[in-house]
Amino acid sequence: LNYLTPKSRQQILELLVQGLKRLEYRGYDSTGLAIDAPNEVDDILLVKRTGKVKILEDAIAEVCQGEDYSQPVDVHIGIAHTRWATHGVPSEVNSHPQRSDVENSFVVVHNGIITNYKDVKTLLEKRGYIFESDTDTEVIAKLVHHLWQSHPGYSFGELVEQAIQQLEGAFAIALKSKHFPGECVASRRGSPLLVGIKAKTKLATDHVPILYTKAHRPHGQQQFHVLPGGSGEVSAEFQPLEHKEVEYFFASDASAVIEHTNRVIYLEDDDVAAVKRDGTLSIHRLNKSSDDPHAREIITLKMEIQQIMKGNYDYFMLKEIFEQPESVVNTMRGRVRFDTQSVVLGGIKEYIPEIKRCRRLMLIACGTSYHSAVATRQLLEELTELPVMVELASDFLDRNTPIYRDDVCFFISQSGETADTLMALRYCKQRGALIVGITNTVGSSICRESHCGVHINAGPEIGVASTKAYTSQFISLVMFALVMSEDRLSLQQRRQEIIAGLAQLDQHIRTVLQLNSQVQELAKELYKHKSLLIMGRGFNFATCLEGALKVKELTYMHSEGILAGELKHGPLALVDDEMPVLMIVLRDPVYIKCMNALQQVTSRKGRPILICEEGDEETMAFSTRSLQIPRTVDCLQGILTVIPLQLLSYHIAVLRGCDVDCPRNLAKSVTVE
Ligand code: G6P
Repeated sequence: LNYLTPKSRQQILELLVQGLKRLEYRGYDSTGLAIDAPNEVDDILLVKRTGKVKILEDAIAEVCQGEDYSQPVDVHIGIAHTRWATHGVPSEVNSHPQRSDVENSFVVVHNGIITNYKDVKTLLEKRGYIFESDTDTEVIAKLVHHLWQSHPGYSFGELVEQAIQQLEGAFAIALKSKHFPGECVASRRGSPLLVGIKAKTKLATDHVPILYTKAHRPHGQQQFHVLPGGSGEVSAEFQPLEHKEVEYFFASDASAVIEHTNRVIYLEDDDVAAVKRDGTLSIHRLNKSSDDPHAREIITLKMEIQQIMKGNYDYFMLKEIFEQPESVVNTMRGRVRFDTQSVVLGGIKEYIPEIKRCRRLMLIACGTSYHSAVATRQLLEELTELPVMVELASDFLDRNTPIYRDDVCFFISQSGETADTLMALRYCKQRGALIVGITNTVGSSICRESHCGVHINAGPEIGVASTKAYTSQFISLVMFALVMSEDRLSLQQRRQEIIAGLAQLDQHIRTVLQLNSQVQELAKELYKHKSLLIMGRGFNFATCLEGALKVKELTYMHSEGILAGELKHGPLALVDDEMPVLMIVLRDPVYIKCMNALQQVTSRKGRPILICEEGDEETMAFSTRSLQIPRTVDCLQGILTVIPLQLLSYHIAVLRGCDVDCPRNLAKSVTVE
């Protein structure tokens, strides 16, 4: 949204496309945008394409050929979207923006799912609306149009406020209209949405007051609390800014706006934010309940643009794998004191006494984040001496799992926005449990809705397949276990051993990363195969699950993580001299059992690739191919064993010609159920 310096349409298009590129990792089967058409003051130009943002970029160049896009405009609203299909196949007509009518009166971009869209659609069809797409989103544009026709005099913000009352499900939306040129309205429920604010001068406030429609503004009485400046009682404190002095950006993720501004407001569920032609931003809500705040805070993000750039790596994923020596240190920074052997987690410190009194610990997550819970469960049981349940969020919800006031529930999520995890959080919160968030995204929904938590501080993770967030989640949970056992005399030796292991971790990770070319050679042997079995047990079972997930999502090859203890109960039938098998056999408490499994495999003519400890000749004698990793304390091995598998999946994906950062059908942040 451009107010600051007059930009040309060309520049506005570039800005939108650039923003989409930054978000492409979230979903990417089709893209589209809407801007004001040149020369016709109140016409909207829509460009939509299936495929990646690059295709849209080329299409725009084609559509705009011959038009004058270089004239600067004073005020302009453009909206753009990259889609990951939930309703309706990826196609041009199903791409966003969706529109109200062929005139493009109202256009909308939407993340999330409108669960009652069929009912709304039927209602609108009865009123003569003809639907062109299979999306749930289209009902939003048509509903707003319908309200506009039936409520003359309503502002754009009021129309959207009315519309969202009739929508169920999850959404983050931004709308533009030819009937309200130069205005943009955005709202959210369940899906993330923020407003970036770029101002020429320092803002006179770090809050934007909320206007509660029912309490303060009976319909028809136009009174806005606005930023910057404006009318109403609150605004007297503000220095009004000219409309040319501020630009606004609505986005689902800070990475799309960070190159323009680091000042953002995270909108909350049911907020309606409206930007007007005069450069004012206002935030509205329909009802005020007693604990609702008076204002939304403008916060300053610390994220740097370089942090989200690829650097010298071909793919973000590879960059993120190689960042792990630093990211694990960042997770521990200021928390683990190696000299005094103490661990402090500022975000949960005050809650530790309460946690120590709890009935059980529940760790709830999806995907890779779930694997970090599996990886640390054993240590948590050992150091907290509490029962620890590890749950996939979707299954946990399906079962209506009993939850009690004295349960402590951890929600682990890189993005902090995963819909299933967030719903499980709300489910537990409602039942009075203590909610602990473990996330990588400051200001995310899971952060905001938790009672306390740990930021894993791994830095932005762009590759869809999670790597460095996994190792940092792992360490965060290890640190929690260490905090919980601080005053247990009998556990002091064990704690010291683990803290010493943490001190050496970055060095050990650097050593493991040197296996890269060896892993690449292995990938050449494996990439034409149909399947890969990954076996291990104890502290390394989670690595098997996580390694297999990486292989599946990146290479589209079948892969399975197998608990070596279960081998004889089925999976052994898969083993022959053709089937690729990888086994993790380390000198830990389950070594003998792993050796049994290894022999079971080799005696069925299996030729396993081994991950074993440096210099362990005895184990290596069982195979012609092994990857050696440094020795560390048993409960931290999983961090070192997962890295060769991250690299292996990466190299197989490259050899198979797969798009490493954007695997087909997947999204980085799954904000739909
Ligand atoms: C998606 C991503 C995975 C991630 C999972 C959970 O499936 O593709 O990489 O592990 O969501 O995401 P979260 O952000 O909650 O960790």
